[in-house]
Order: sequence, then C-alpha cells, then structure tokens
Amino acid sequence: METLSFGKNSQGKETSLYILENKNHAVMKVSDHGATLVSLLVPDRDGKMQDVVLGYDKASDYEGHTCYFGATIGRNGNRIGKAQMVIDGKPCSIAANENENNLHSGPNGFDRALWEVKGHTENSITFSHLSREEEQGFPGNLQVEVTYTLTDENAVEITYQGKSDKATIMNCTNHSYFNLGGHASGSVEQQELQILAESYNPVRDAKSIPTGEIAPVAGTPMDFREPKPIGQDIGADFEQLKFTGGYDHNYVLSSHAGEFKVMANAYCKETGIAMEASTDCCGVQFYAGNFIGDQEGKGGAAYCDRCGFCLESQFYPDAVNQKGFPSPIIQAGETFTSKTSYRFYVK
Ligand code: GLA
Repeated sequence: METLSFGKNSQGKETSLYILENKNHAVMKVSDHGATLVSLLVPDRDGKMQDVVLGYDKASDYEGHTCYFGATIGRNGNRIGKAQMVIDGKPCSIAANENENNLHSGPNGFDRALWEVKGHTENSITFSHLSREEEQGFPGNLQVEVTYTLTDENAVEITYQGKSDKATIMNCTNHSYFNLGGHASGSVEQQELQILAESYNPVRDAKSIPTGEIAPVAGTPMDFREPKPIGQDIGADFEQLKFTGGYDHNYVLSSHAGEFKVMANAYCKETGIAMEASTDCCGVQFYAGNFIGDQEGKGGAAYCDRCGFCLESQFYPDAVNQKGFPSPIIQAGETFTSKTSYRFYVK
C-alpha cells in the first residue's frame, strides 16, 4: 500500500490518500478524510484504465462541497423527518440541515470526520471512528469501522461494523457517484441500469420524506427491473420524479436486512465497463446525480448534473420514524455489520 498526502483539513490536520492495487492492476484510492473512496481505476474493453468514481484532489475540496462524493455516510444515511425521533423511549433531536429535516446525519457527519487507520492488508484497509454521543445528537457512543477491500475480481467490497453503549441508529452507506464512461466523461443518462426491486418508497413532496407506502414500480417510470438507460424515463410526467428533479428514491430490496444479493447492474456501451452491485441491506437509494451542479473535480474534470449516479445501500429513509419499515436501531452492546460490493467487468 502506498500512502500520499491528501492535504490538510479545515482543522489543520494532515489527511492521507491510501493506494491499493490488485493483480489485474485495478487501483483503489481511499482517504482517511471521511473514509472516502476517492478513485477507482478499472480496465475498459481496450484495456485502458478508467476512473469510474467522481471525487476531488484533496480533503479541503471535499469540505467545500455538499455532494458527499465517495464518502462514508453515518451514523444515519438519508433523511430523518423533522430531524427528530424516539429511541428507546427517549425523544431525541439532531441538526436540521435540509429544510426541517436531517440529511446524512448533519454537519458533523462521518463524511467530515478524520478516521483512524486501524490496519491494512495487501488488498484491504480498515478505518475506525468513535462517534461520540454529543457530536451528532444520536444516543450512545458508537464505535464504527469501515473496511474497503479491492478483490482480484475487480470488486470493491465495503463492510461496516458498529457497536454502541446505548441503543442507537447504525445505518451507514457509501456515497460513491459512478460513471462507467470515466469520471470526466459527462452525463450518465445513456448508461444502462437495472435495479432488482419490485417496489420503492414514494415521497410526500419535494422534501423527500417517504409517505410510508411501499409502491410497485410496475407500470411506472420507476421500473428498472429490466435494464434501461438512466435518462430514458427520467423526464416523464410523473409526480414522484417531479418532486425530486429526477430519480432520488429508495428501492425496496427486502423486508429485512441480512441477505447478501445482487441489487443492481449497470453498463456503459462506450467503454464496455459493467458494474454488478450487491448488498445485504434492505434498501438502496438510487440518486441520479440531479443536483451535482457545474463544478471542478479530480484533475480539473468538468462535472455537471447527472454526470454520476449513486446506489446507496441503506435502511429505508426516515426508517426510525416509520413503523412499517425495518428498524435501523441497534441495542446497547450489539454488534451490527453490513456489506455492499461493486464489481467491475467488461462486456
Ligand atoms: C442522497 C439524497 C439526495 C442528495 C444526495 C447528496 O442521495 O437522497 O437527495 O441529497 O444524497 O447530494
């Protein structure tokens, strides 16, 4: 493993970039700033290496934006309505950072933390972080670990482990934006996506809190059971897509967490790069990068709306407040683990 400087963060602390390579010369670069996946170089059909995730060149660039490129999100991914909840009978409120709601655990999210490197092997690295009770406002001190492994099958496997001294939420995800044409290649709307889900969670309005329904995708533009270009139906006259300015919804993979299976497949004709994504989580947020905006990414790349798509494995949004959804709560002393992988190949 090679280690490079990733610059100083806003607290003046040095951050690092760790580089791991597998036997196919696929390369994964991760940072202790936000336990972030910064780059992922995989071969295209001509054997040329393509970096298939969006990112920035240094830690301070991540701090200057709110896109969460490649970051570890926690302790709760996605939204909590009114930034309030009841855990173990006790009301609890956290920061409202998107309208009156909480998104991705607020301003002190795991994406802004400087993680410790707990250890590494030839093909993996484990970051750890103690999330103190007072930092985000959730109950309990949560000890959390994230391990990134680059396998010789060109898969990035991400495992999460958490244990708390009080009942709390443990719902981490990775916020990578994929572009199978290469991170600097522009819109992903022509790239094909399949999501192996029969249903999704409709949202109430533009603030994206679920109604609580689990609605079938059949007969709607939300249907990705068969592969189709991301952009094919994104502009359809369909209220759910109007609310969110394009796909930004949780797809229901299962009624419970724990079963590891393929959740999605994606493909780019130009490069021939395909991705198979798997998880043991019960849901996945498909976000089409609707609000990336025009900005400069790694190596001066020009990023724009919809130049990357996210498949954020998670508990359903606002699960802590929705009785019909699987619960993201772990009990004191319980160890929770979950795993998500993104495998790349050429076809
Ligand atoms: C998630 C949300 C989106 C957006 C991104 C970050 O995917 O569902 O609405 O906030 O994070 O920009």
